[in-house]
Amino acid sequence: MDKKVTVIGAGNVGATTAQRLAEKELCDVVLIDIAEGLPQGKALDLTEAAPVEKHDTTLIGSNTYEDSANSDIVIITAGIPRKPGMSRDDLIKTNMNIMKSVTADVAKHSPDAILIIVSNPLDAMCHVAYETSGFPKNRVIGMAGVLDSARFRAFISMELNVSVENTHAFVLGGHGDTMVPLPRYSTVAGIPITELLSEKKIEALVDRTRKGGGEIVGLLKTGSAFYAPSSAAVEMAESILKDKKKILPCAAYLEGEYGINNLFIGVPVKLGTGGIEDIIQITLTEKEAAALNKSADAVKQLVEDLKKLA
Ligand code: APR
Repeated sequence: MDKKVTVIGAGNVGATTAQRLAEKELCDVVLIDIAEGLPQGKALDLTEAAPVEKHDTTLIGSNTYEDSANSDIVIITAGIPRKPGMSRDDLIKTNMNIMKSVTADVAKHSPDAILIIVSNPLDAMCHVAYETSGFPKNRVIGMAGVLDSARFRAFISMELNVSVENTHAFVLGGHGDTMVPLPRYSTVAGIPITELLSEKKIEALVDRTRKGGGEIVGLLKTGSAFYAPSSAAVEMAESILKDKKKILPCAAYLEGEYGINNLFIGVPVKLGTGGIEDIIQITLTEKEAAALNKSADAVKQLVEDLKKLA
């Protein structure tokens, strides 16, 4: 295939991302992890599924970045989940160091790649990748809003008993408790959900969306979500690889847009061959703008915490 995508981290999110990319025949896939044998084993297993799944995607598993050379896109999922007894600062510090070393290797071997960051805490990890890679801001993109809006869409469709394909949802802000789902811009067959659901019901769906990641962690107990996160990362990659120019909510580096400066935060962007080709600015009500500013403050705090830990 003429496009190449490397996925760093062959854990739950990374391996499922590789699977989705391969089954859609979007590109050749390279899976990289520090654990010896893990990316090789998963890539081989996926290759052995290919005859049944009917795809001809080449999948390679590796522990070295030479194999990732000249990728068009690199999706970074490497990191560790929080372990019992581990503080949030410990987690941030560990993942920051992983992100630094991974991004440095990626930038060296794929200097023209577009980075899609998936590792958490997402907005802060985008900053680390942006600063370490030295890539222009249009080539460093965080995966958060597509996942959060997919969750919102799933809940809307469950509530109204309509096809998920009829739903659209917009979620802005950081990937955390302060995210800002926008019911006004969330629709079913073009009809705003504010016309279809009571304020109380919408608030309940919004609250479930905000806590969506935690709900899955609570159920799984031994890890975090990976089916929906990988779907979201692949939708972004597909829009870039096929130059579809989809408008998707992603974490983007803002320089004045929405009145926010020098911060990665979730906003609607146009994704094409050039990565982020445009940042769409929509008019927010006073309440929505206040919620977005609050979310930006939370991300700013996290980035400052990171600088102290560095
Ligand atoms: N280089 C490459 N791979 C690494 C590195 C590194 N420096 N450090 C850790 N990894 C790998 C681990 O070996 C593991 O295989 O990252 C993988 C992470 O996989 P999981 O533990 O299964 O985590 P996963 O559920 O995939 O989540 C990954 O995505 O959604 C986010 O919050 C989630 O930050 C987490 C990330």
